[in-house]
Amino acid sequence: MADISGEELDEIYAFAVNLGEEAGRMLMHGARVRMGDERVANEQEEHVQKENAVDLVTKMDDDVEAFIRGQIANKYPSHKFVGEESYSKGASRDYLIDDNPTWCVDPLDGTVNYIHLFPLFCVSIAFIHHSKPLIGVINAPLLNYFFSSCAGRGAYLNRTQRLPLIRNPIPPLPANAPSGCIFSCEWGKDRRDVPEGNLHKKVESFVNMAAEVGARAGRGGMVHGVRSLGSATLDLAFVAMGAFDIWWEGGCWEWDVAAGIAILQEAGGLVTTANPPGDYATAPIEDARLGSRLYLAIRPAGASATETGRQAQ
Ligand code: IPD
Repeated sequence: MADISGEELDEIYAFAVNLGEEAGRMLMHGARVRMGDERVANEQEEHVQKENAVDLVTKMDDDVEAFIRGQIANKYPSHKFVGEESYSKGASRDYLIDDNPTWCVDPLDGTVNYIHLFPLFCVSIAFIHHSKPLIGVINAPLLNYFFSSCAGRGAYLNRTQRLPLIRNPIPPLPANAPSGCIFSCEWGKDRRDVPEGNLHKKVESFVNMAAEVGARAGRGGMVHGVRSLGSATLDLAFVAMGAFDIWWEGGCWEWDVAAGIAILQEAGGLVTTANPPGDYATAPIEDARLGSRLYLAIRPAGASATETGRQAQ
C-alpha cells in the first residue's frame, strides 16, 4: 500500500478525533446509567467474565467497538481493524499489527474502573501504518480529559494544551532519572496462582521496581509515589503530560497501548521494552515494537514536577 500523504493523514486524524468524541458520549451515557440517572433508568448494564474473574467485559465494550468498527468500515474499507473485543471473540494472530494501515481500538480501557465508576476509563483509538502508531485519541469522558496526537502535529490535552504540560530543560531518562519521580505500574489480570499468591508477588515486584527506579533517581532511592490506575492507555497519556515519570507493565496487548504510545511519542517521550528492575539503565533504548507485551514508558525530556518549583520549598 502506498504511503499516506500529509493531507490524507490530516483527514484521518479529524475522523479519529470525531470517533473519539462520539464513543466518549456513549461511555458517558453508560456511566450515567450506572449512576442511576433517571433519564436512562430503564437500561441495564451487565458484565461478564472473559479469561478469569478480573478479566471483565460489558455490553458497553461490545457496543462501542461495533460502533467504531462500523464507522471505519464505511469510511476506510481498505483499512484493517484490530479491536480488543473482536480479538477476544476468536480472531487469529494474523489479525494483529502488520505494515497495512490499521486501526487499533480498545473501546473501553479500564473496564473494571468503569464497572466500579472509578473515573479512569476511556476509549482508546490508534491509527497505525508500517507498524508505527501515527495517530492516538484517548477520551476519558468522566474526567473530561481528551488526549489527541498526530505524527508531526503535536500531542494535546483537550485540543489546546500541548503535551507535555510540565516543561523544564532536564535530560531524559535513563541516563539521568528524575529526582523524586512518580512511578506507575499495572496489576494486569493474570491471577493464575490464586488471587493472594499472584498479588503478593506483584506487590513485591512493584516494591523492588520502585526501589530500583528511586535508586537511579539519585536522592537516596526516593520515589514520591507509586500509582496503579487500571488503564494502561491513560497511564501512557499521563506520562505524556509529564505527570508520571515512568510507567511499566508486562502483558499488555496492542489495543491497551497503541494510542497512548502515539501520544507519548509525539509529546517527546519514550517507550521501550526494558524490564525493571535491573535492565532499564543498560537495555538498548529503542522504540518498543507493538506486540512486545512488555513496555516501559519514560516521560518527555523537560517534564519534571520536582524541577519546576511545584514541590514544597
Ligand atoms: C486493561 C487495563 C489495565 C491493564 C490490563 C489491560 P481493559 O484493559 O488497561 O490497566 O493492566 O493489562 O488489559 O481490559 O480494561 O480494556
